Amino acid sequence: MKFFVDSADLEQIAYLNDIGLVDGVTTNPSIIAKSGRDFIEVIKEICAMVEGPVSAEVTATDADEMIKEGRILRAVADNVCVKLPLTMDGLKACKVLSSEGTKTNVTLCFSANQALLAAKAGASFISPFIGRLDDQGLDGMELIEEIRTIYDNYGFETEILAASIRNVGHIKDCALVGADVITSPPDVIAKLSQHVLTDKGLAAFLKDWEKTGQSIL
Ligand code: E4P
Repeated sequence: MKFFVDSADLEQIAYLNDIGLVDGVTTNPSIIAKSGRDFIEVIKEICAMVEGPVSAEVTATDADEMIKEGRILRAVADNVCVKLPLTMDGLKACKVLSSEGTKTNVTLCFSANQALLAAKAGASFISPFIGRLDDQGLDGMELIEEIRTIYDNYGFETEILAASIRNVGHIKDCALVGADVITSPPDVIAKLSQHVLTDKGLAAFLKDWEKTGQSIL
């Protein structure tokens, strides 16, 4: 399973990238607004740091305008992936941009039928939002499972990019049900390493080591 970082924070992306935990990055207009940075500049910098796809989202709502924006965004760097909303206009833009060889990520997916449409429109990635479904009292993980089944039934190559990740449990469950990619806030990825028994075990080892009076360095 690939790990994408859902952030435009260069420092946090670099930290995880140095550990080999960044296969790509996703952004959206809210993340860009939070960064306080110029959209194109920050995308260019992330693309230079990370080898994998970097999602940059269009903000037009009309297909022709989305296509124009998508062409501008993909010219920023070779690894830009144009992110489009799951509307009929977004799907039309996805079809055109994908046919031109541009990587596409269809976002704001909340149903299996929407995911089916994105695959038929040639999307490279579909982004189902787990956390936002859970927030509504629905089951985000069930959606990931449904999409996995549908894509496997018909051999669609669109990758399932599980988004709106809120906790480490989401990441484990995505791995169990076969999501191709998760995109997660950096702090949730870092939390994957934590376990109380690791901390306790390490403390005990270090205490015993101290008793030996030895040093490796
Ligand atoms: C990713 O592509 C999405 O933009 C992101 O995961 C949304 O997460 P949120 O529901 O926490 O805003």
